[in-house]
Amino acid sequence: MHKNSRNILLFGANGQLGSKLKSLLAVKGTVHSVGHAELDLRNLPALRTLILETKPALIVNAAAYTAVDAAESDADNARLVNTEAPRVMAEAARECQALLVHYSTDYVFDGAAHTPYTEASPVSPLGVYGATKLAGELAVAGSGAAHLILRTAWLYSNRGKNFLNTMLRLAAERDELRVVNDQTGCPTYADLVAEASARMLDGMYAGGVVRLERCGLYHLTCQGETTWWSFAKRIIELTGFGERVRVTAITTADYPTPVKRPAYSVLSNAKLERVFGIRLPDWEEGLKRCLAERDTQR
Ligand SMILES: NC(=O)c1ccc[n+]([C@@H]2O[C@H](COP(=O)([O-])OP(=O)(O)OC[C@H]3O[C@@H](n4cnc5c(N)ncnc54)[C@H](OP(=O)(O)O)[C@@H]3O)[C@@H](O)[C@H]2O)c1
Repeated sequence: MHKNSRNILLFGANGQLGSKLKSLLAVKGTVHSVGHAELDLRNLPALRTLILETKPALIVNAAAYTAVDAAESDADNARLVNTEAPRVMAEAARECQALLVHYSTDYVFDGAAHTPYTEASPVSPLGVYGATKLAGELAVAGSGAAHLILRTAWLYSNRGKNFLNTMLRLAAERDELRVVNDQTGCPTYADLVAEASARMLDGMYAGGVVRLERCGLYHLTCQGETTWWSFAKRIIELTGFGERVRVTAITTADYPTPVKRPAYSVLSNAKLERVFGIRLPDWEEGLKRCLAERDTQR
């Protein structure tokens, strides 16, 4: 893409992923950042009108209803944001001949596997959040629009509500943190996902034209795997709380939540590496980078 020659529409611009995307996309065109305050994505006619009036060459959707437990009792809103809004974005993208980048989740899987899930692995979400995100994927994939669907997992950053910020807040208040040790996944620094997305975009164009053969579904996470307990332990050690705060392993049964999480949701990134030559660092390297950037970002 040639700098500033194209309109870019970014949804979810104030989320953990969207806020980093906002700065990275600025060098690729004129970014129209849309947060919740500017447009409620449940207003589907307004969403469609905004896209058709902006005539973007690129739409990036980092917005989502991400409250996994709340979604169980708020399915209509979760469906509007996670399924119907992406459907409208994709239909409008097709009409504008825009490329749509859409994000999805490891929670499309049920977690019964013991080896990393690929893009071809069967999906079977355990709850409303995962089901509405999966339906959003299918709507985008079936729209006929040029698209990238990027499934990521266990996102955290120095901004917003996430596991890292929760652990650091609790560590300042308590001597013991009790964290589940029977869910395995890959913690992924949101800024790394944003940077990889920007690099993928560079690889999506040849002579200003979208490389349609590269469109489709990709897994995009850090490498390796761990449990929430060992992730928490590493956070506590790396931030100097290790002397005072004990991190105790508990089971999912000890910490009941409205919706079941996958016991295992590691995503293979082999397709991403094969097609785009992109490989994110190990989760622990990602955590160190996030913590190193913490002071400058808060
Ligand atoms: N967080 C994770 O652990 C995780 C894991 C796997 C995949 N993902 C996926 O990665 C993507 C980015 O996630 P994230 O962690 O960056 O999410 P996030 O920080 O929760 O940001 C999502 C953004 O969407 C906005 N939004 C929600 N409802 C909206 C509505 N009705 N109208 C307009 N905007 C609305 C939110 O605004 P308000 O806050 O003002 O509502 C928020 O700014 C999403 O597709 C998510 O499903 C996330």
